[in-house]
Amino acid sequence: MSEQKKYKRHLLTAALLYANGPIHVGHLAGCYIPADIYARYLRAKGEEVLFVSGSDEHGVAITMKAEKEKTTPQAIIDLYHHQIKNAFEQFGISFDIYARTSSNTHHETASAFFKKFYDQSLFEEKETEQFYDPEVHQFLADRYIIGTCPKCGNENAFGDQCEKCGSTLSPDELINPRSAYSNAQPIKKKTTHWFLPLQNYETWLKEWIINEHAQDWKPNVYGQCKSWIEQGLQARAMTRDLNWGIPVPLPQAKGKVLYVWFDAPIGYISATKEYFDQKQQPARWKEFWQEEETQLVHFIGKDNIVFHCIIFPAMLKAHGGFVLPAQVPANEFMNLEGEKISTSRNWAVWLHEYLAEFPEKQDVLRYYLTTNAPETKDSDFTWKDFQARNNSELVANLGNFINRAVVLTGQNFNAQLPTAQTLESIDLALENDLKTISQKIEKSLQNYRFKEAIGSLMELSSVGNKYLQDNAPWKLLKENNKDRAATVLHCALQLVANLSILAEPFLPFTAQKIRTILNIEKPLGWQKVGSLNLLNAEQKIENIGLLFEKIEDTTIEFQIEKLNKSKNPAMTTTSENNNQAATITLNALKESISYEDFQKIDLRIATIKTAERVKGSKKILKLQLEAGNLQPIVASGIGEYFEPEAIIGKQVCWLANLAPRKIMGVESQGMILMTTDSEGKLLFMNPEGNALNGAEVR
Ligand code: MF3
Ligand code: ZN
Repeated sequence: MSEQKKYKRHLLTAALLYANGPIHVGHLAGCYIPADIYARYLRAKGEEVLFVSGSDEHGVAITMKAEKEKTTPQAIIDLYHHQIKNAFEQFGISFDIYARTSSNTHHETASAFFKKFYDQSLFEEKETEQFYDPEVHQFLADRYIIGTCPKCGNENAFGDQCEKCGSTLSPDELINPRSAYSNAQPIKKKTTHWFLPLQNYETWLKEWIINEHAQDWKPNVYGQCKSWIEQGLQARAMTRDLNWGIPVPLPQAKGKVLYVWFDAPIGYISATKEYFDQKQQPARWKEFWQEEETQLVHFIGKDNIVFHCIIFPAMLKAHGGFVLPAQVPANEFMNLEGEKISTSRNWAVWLHEYLAEFPEKQDVLRYYLTTNAPETKDSDFTWKDFQARNNSELVANLGNFINRAVVLTGQNFNAQLPTAQTLESIDLALENDLKTISQKIEKSLQNYRFKEAIGSLMELSSVGNKYLQDNAPWKLLKENNKDRAATVLHCALQLVANLSILAEPFLPFTAQKIRTILNIEKPLGWQKVGSLNLLNAEQKIENIGLLFEKIEDTTIEFQIEKLNKSKNPAMTTTSENNNQAATITLNALKESISYEDFQKIDLRIATIKTAERVKGSKKILKLQLEAGNLQPIVASGIGEYFEPEAIIGKQVCWLANLAPRKIMGVESQGMILMTTDSEGKLLFMNPEGNALNGAEVR
C-alpha cells in the first residue's frame, strides 16, 4: 500500500447523473455508495470534506427523452432532478450539494471556460460535414440518425450504436439512414466547430498518468487510460449543433451549444461555487479547486473513465491553476439477475420502488450493494443473494450480536452499562482484535476497497458474537457469577460503541440506531476507535428492538416475479415501443350502472388556457379552461408530472358537472380526465382532431 499522503481538504465528486429517468441500484452501486462511504469516513476522521454531485441536464440524453415523452427538455429535467435528488437523500447519500447544470452559475462558469480557451487560441476551429435533416432544418446528432446496422441487419440501429448487436457505429456506416425527426434522408452540410486538440496534451498526460499513477490508480482505470493514450489522442469537438444546452458564447456560433462533456464536468466546479455562495463565502471555492493541498477524487462508473482521466484533466491543465484528480476510483457495472440493467427494457430495481416496498431498509440495500460492489469486475444483483446476506449476515451476525448484549443488559443490569472488574486475557484479546480489525478497515477505506472494508466490519461483529458465545454471560448469571457477566457485557457493549463509529460510513441509519441504543448523542469520531473505554460508567442502554429483520421467501418471490413481469421485450427503440408489456396493474371493472346514471355525467372538450402551480403544493396545478363560453377553474393533481408551461394549449376532456370542491385553497369546478401508458405515465385524453371547445363527449 502506498503511504497515505496528507491533504488539507478533500473534494469528492460523484458523476452528475443525466436527469432523464429514475435511478436504479446500478447507479448506487457503481458510484454513489462508494463515494458516500468515503465522504462519511473522512468526515468521521474530522477531515474537511466537500462532496458534490448533481444533475447533468444537457445533451442528447435529455432531448431524446423529451421527444419520446412528447414534452420539453425543461419538463424532463425538472421532473427527474427532484425525483433523483429525493431518492439520494432517502438513501442517506450525504452530498453537501446536489446541483444542476441548468443553473445560472453553471452556465456562466462553463461559458467562461469556453471563452478563455477561445481567447487564448486553445481550440482548433474546423469546418466539417455533418448530417442534416432537410425537412426540419436541423443538424442531427448521431443518436438522431436511424438506419440499418451493417453488422446485424437491425433496421433500427442508431448512428452511434446498434442496440441489438452492441456494435459501436458511426452514422456513415448505417444503411438507408433516416432522420429520427422526420424520417427524411439526411444530407451532409458544412458546419464549423471548436475542437480541443487532445494530441497537444499527450506528452503531459503520459507523464502524469503513465508515470505517476501506474501504482496508485485502480488497474481497470489505469489500463483504460494507458490504452487510450497509446492509441494516440485526437482533437475532439467541444461544440455541437443542437438546440438544447449552453449556447456557445461567440457571436458567430448562433444555434450551437457546448458539447455536454465539455460543460458537465465543469459542473463540479459550479456546484462548489454554488455551495459557497449559499454559505456566503463566495471566494472559497478556489481553496478546493486551486490550492495544492486539496485531494480531488472523482467517483464514476467505468463508461466515464476517459472523460474524467483524460479530457477533463486536459481542460483543467489547459485552463491552468486547477488541481488535478488524485484518484478516479471507477467501478465496473452491476448486472441484475444475470442480465445487463436496462432502462428501456425495464430491467432494473428502481430506488423509488425499493423505498416504497422495503420501508426503513435503506441500510440493507446499502449493505448488499457494498458487499457486492463491482469494484474490480462486473457483479450481479440477485434477489436471493440480497435475502441471504440480509438474513445470514445483517440479522444473524451484526443484529444478533448487538441484540444479545442489549437484551442481557436490560434483563440483568437494570439497562445500564455494567461495571467491569479485572479484565481477563480473553477480554484483552477482544480489545486486540478490535484494534487489528479496525486498522484493517481503515486501510481498506483509504485504498477505496469498500467491499473489503465492510467484510472486515462484519468480521469484527463475528468476533463479538464469538466473544459472547465463549464467555456465555447467560450461563455466568445462572451460576451467580454476576461480576464476570458484568465484565463480559461491559466489554461487549464497548465493542458495540466501536461498531457505531465503524459502521457509520456504510450503514448510517444503523449507526444512528446504535447511538440511540447507547445514548450517544453525537457520533464519537473515528479517532476513538480501538478502545474498550468509550462508554461512561452506568450509561443507560436502550432496547429499541431488532436492528434487522429476516426477509421472507415470499417477499423475494414477489420481487422476482415482478421483475420478470415488468420486463419489456428486448430491443425497443424510439419508433417501436407501443407494444410493451404493461408494467402497471389494471383495476377490475366497477359494478355496472344504468344508462340514466351515465346520462348524469356531463363531459366536455376544453382547452387549457393558463396553468400555474399552487403555492405549497407539488401536486396541484391551477388550470383555467376554455369550454365554449365557459371559463372554469380546475385544480388538477398532475403537478408532479407536468410543467405548467408545457400543457398550455392542450385540449382535454373535462368532467363539467362534478360538484365544486376546494383543493389547496382553489375552488375547483370539475376535473380533467387522464389516462396512463404502460409505464404508468399520465396522458391527457384529447380528441383525435381539433374538437370544438365546449362540445359534449358522449
Ligand atoms: N451524465 C453522465 C453519465 O451519466 C456523467 C457525467 S459526469 C460529469 O454518464 F463529469 F460530466 F459530470
Ligand atoms: Zn447491429
